[in-house]
Amino acid sequence: MLNDIRITPSILNVDRENLSSEIARIASVSDYIHLDVMDNIFVPNFTFDFDAATKIIGETSIPVDSHLMVADVDQIAINYAQSGSASVTFHVEACSDIRATAAGIRKHGARASIALKPATEIEFYEEFLDEIDMVLIMTVEPGFGGQKFMVEMMDKVRRTKRLMGTRPIWLQVDGGVSLETIEIAREAGADTFVAGSAVFNADDPAAMVNQLRDRISHQ
Ligand code: DX5
Ligand code: ZN
Repeated sequence: MLNDIRITPSILNVDRENLSSEIARIASVSDYIHLDVMDNIFVPNFTFDFDAATKIIGETSIPVDSHLMVADVDQIAINYAQSGSASVTFHVEACSDIRATAAGIRKHGARASIALKPATEIEFYEEFLDEIDMVLIMTVEPGFGGQKFMVEMMDKVRRTKRLMGTRPIWLQVDGGVSLETIEIAREAGADTFVAGSAVFNADDPAAMVNQLRDRISHQ
């Protein structure tokens, strides 16, 4: 059976002038493009406002996995679903009604996904697992690319996988994923992998995406 794994490269550190050509370089070998949206409130960094983000989403040939690192995210998350994001991830730390936000995202045909910062425990959110399509376990403090993979998050990945049981929920990790760390994350139970600097710092980003996939496809 085909391995149920996904590589979703992040374009956070790609320079904006070449965004569409850089996305085109990896689109054919990637499952989603991971679009990091930061508002300089929830995290100390800014990337795109809604109009700029939805322009990118509209121009991207493959599905977009929008990762919203924004405060007061409930309605914004639903707007991203309406804007054509194939998947919308919102942080539980920034959401006032997880159930309603997830339902609103799904209502517009997108996958609903919750993200947890490193210090946030999954056990508090078990009750929502029947209403979401993915859990993103951050393996860095959100806000910047190029940080070191937090191997101490693997215990949380294992616990999340156990809580999911047989539900068809994807388990994504994001931050510091590379050829050196992707196997550890896979072994802990992740099946969807964000990689930013590992992909775009490589001489051949598309080849790197394939190498990352190959590295965990035998398992
Ligand atoms: C960080 C972002 C990540 C980041 C990943 O807040 O959510 O998606 O861009 O970049 P790397 O793979 O370089 O850690
Ligand atoms: Zn991200």
